[in-house]
Amino acid sequence: MNNYLQRLGLTAWRKKTTVLVIIGVLTLIVYGLHYTQSYQLKNPHAKEGISETIADQLKQNYKINIKFVDHKSQTGTEADNLIEGILHKLSNHYKIIGRGDITEDNKITHDTDHLLGIPLVNLNLESPYIPKKRIVHFDLKGAPLQVGFYRKIFPMIKNMGATGILLEYEDMFPYTGILKPVPAHNAYTLEQIKEILTIAQEFNLEVIPLVQTFGHLEYVLKHAEFIKYREVPSSPQALCPSRNASTDIVLEIVNQVVSAHPNINYLHIGCDEVYQMGECEICRLELHETLFLRHVRNVANLIHDKYPKLKIIIWDDMLRHLSQQTMLEMNLGALVEPMIWVYAEDIYRFVQPQIWEKYATIFKSAWTASAFKGAFGETLYIPDARRHLENNLRWLEIMSHQSSRFRHGITGIALTGWQRYDHFAVLCELFPAGIPSLALSLCAVSNGFFNSSLKSKFLASLSCPHSTIPRNSPFINLDSDPHLWEKLGRCMFPGSPLFRLMFRLHTTETEVSDYLKLVNRDKGWMTEYNIRHNYSLPLRVDELISDFPRVYHSVISLARSAADTMAGIFDNYTIAEWVEQRIYPYVVSLEKIQNDSFILKSVNTWPARPLPILKDLQRLGVLVF
Ligand SMILES: *[C@@H]1O[C@H](CO)[C@@H](O)[C@H](O)[C@H]1NC(C)=O
Ligand SMILES: *[C@@H]1O[C@H](CO)[C@@H](O)[C@H](O)[C@H]1NC(C)=O
Ligand SMILES: *[C@@H]1O[C@H](CO)[C@@H](O)[C@H](O)[C@H]1NC(C)=O
Ligand SMILES: *[C@@H]1O[C@H](CO)[C@@H](O)[C@H](O)[C@H]1NC(C)=O
Ligand SMILES: *[C@@H]1O[C@H](CO)[C@@H](O)[C@H](O)[C@H]1NC(C)=O
Repeated sequence: MNNYLQRLGLTAWRKKTTVLVIIGVLTLIVYGLHYTQSYQLKNPHAKEGISETIADQLKQNYKINIKFVDHKSQTGTEADNLIEGILHKLSNHYKIIGRGDITEDNKITHDTDHLLGIPLVNLNLESPYIPKKRIVHFDLKGAPLQVGFYRKIFPMIKNMGATGILLEYEDMFPYTGILKPVPAHNAYTLEQIKEILTIAQEFNLEVIPLVQTFGHLEYVLKHAEFIKYREVPSSPQALCPSRNASTDIVLEIVNQVVSAHPNINYLHIGCDEVYQMGECEICRLELHETLFLRHVRNVANLIHDKYPKLKIIIWDDMLRHLSQQTMLEMNLGALVEPMIWVYAEDIYRFVQPQIWEKYATIFKSAWTASAFKGAFGETLYIPDARRHLENNLRWLEIMSHQSSRFRHGITGIALTGWQRYDHFAVLCELFPAGIPSLALSLCAVSNGFFNSSLKSKFLASLSCPHSTIPRNSPFINLDSDPHLWEKLGRCMFPGSPLFRLMFRLHTTETEVSDYLKLVNRDKGWMTEYNIRHNYSLPLRVDELISDFPRVYHSVISLARSAADTMAGIFDNYTIAEWVEQRIYPYVVSLEKIQNDSFILKSVNTWPARPLPILKDLQRLGVLVF
């Protein structure tokens, strides 16, 4: 960022006459996430090279939205021609998301594309890059869907352009034998899994199961029976790769899962975020690099021996900083395909061009992974569809550049939708809350771009009533409505009532936090001090508590609606977990206020001031007495 500004400043200085000329006719209002810049073109006789300068500078930072404003009143046709020229030049480098005249009252009179708030990404629109496989991730370690709900979801994602699903079972697979302690008590049965696979097949969706085989084995290693497999005895995160028993158990996991999926071509064996490596006595003697690669090689070889046709995918993060030499020596390219994952907007920041070069040397093909939810905060409940769309559009751009480096190209992209960050974390965005974001990103990935020409397709995939969106009004506005509540609030996709409930949660949360803040912090009669000393004025307490019934009622009724809305989508454990995590804390805080008010009001004579000194202050070294 600093670099960019510096370079911009330098260029601006060197070409100061040019830049001065830019000030005037054409205003490019650049909405960055962090800053706003505007360029204006004053002199209609400006040289043509200017547009390139602007374009190059804009190119440094993709996080921009361009709006073109022409001030017709100040300029003549000459200027218009010039604008056309510049627009034309810019359009060679950028996806111009739209343009129109902004009149004095800021109303758009032309087409509305630039009002959609679609992140500007440099895509080649002549021949859009469309990934061959487009896989939707189902993270079952949190909020697993009821089997019947897949029947509604699969046709919908198929419609949006998905070609397959990535099923990350974690503890939702009904493991048996030595793995008997592993499944959650609400895990799917084998029959249910068969049913899910049948529905997937019905809609021609390829199934890729995902099982962790190195790190993120919390769901196995947390149990007493499996302590001996841990790398660090006190932590269930990672497996010790140096014991024969470890590979045995991994193979057992793989065998059970593969047997339940007779027709698969790919198996994803995880291997991301192995945070604990080289810590036990055996592993301590080895380099991390060797430990990691040897385990992956062992596991991949064992799987290949048993299932020669199965292709194996691993997450790429552990490979990013390993040496090309070692990976080549281990012949990693013949064993696995990396799935290169970045969920943030700035993909090259995490996987730099030289890493791509390394991957292309080692692997014949690769996968990528974006996100449509569950990536921007562990406790969020609704995804920011704009940020996820930007992540996906940027992936399209990068895939279009990088695909040809691999001998067999990039196989496809997985759109991940995390439901918890790891086995021990709380739930993040639930699947139905993320469906509009999925629709947006999946539509983009399946078409190679996103603009208003996809309006009908997009709205139809979400069962949105067309008629409710006025003709000249944008059908989405990601700048002002990044959660899509406003624009898609009337759509009838499966789970849409739960999507709408998230908006109610949002407003209720605001209402409750405002109330709690008012009572406990802003007003001077029910603070912790008042309560600790039983010292307040009943009249004031009554005043503060007068809003309690309204706020309390909206929380309780939200909890009930949530449970009703989630029935049929999730089982009772998930419903209970979500309500306890998201709503119950408000119930407790509110009830405490009510209880405190009863206590404060039950006093009717008060001691003379000063009030007793709080004993506990001694601990702070304040007023030793
Ligand atoms: C949307 O993008 C496509 C593909 O580049 C293009 O053909 C089409 O004209 C664009 N539509 C609009 C309304 O901008
Ligand atoms: C693991 O098994 C191999 C082959 O069966 C054997 O050679 C090796 O000694 C064993 N290693 C350990 C640590 O038990
Ligand atoms: C889940 O809760 C609902 C509502 O309380 C109840 O009717 C239903 O029987 C419960 N389901 C199971 C499987 O316990
Ligand atoms: C409020 O008081 C009721 C009745 O005494 C009690 O059951 C409840 O636990 C209290 N709640 C809180 C949050 O203190
Ligand atoms: C506050 O006063 C009431 C009424 O005298 C009494 O029942 C209660 O225990 C007191 N609470 C505290 C925290 O001192």
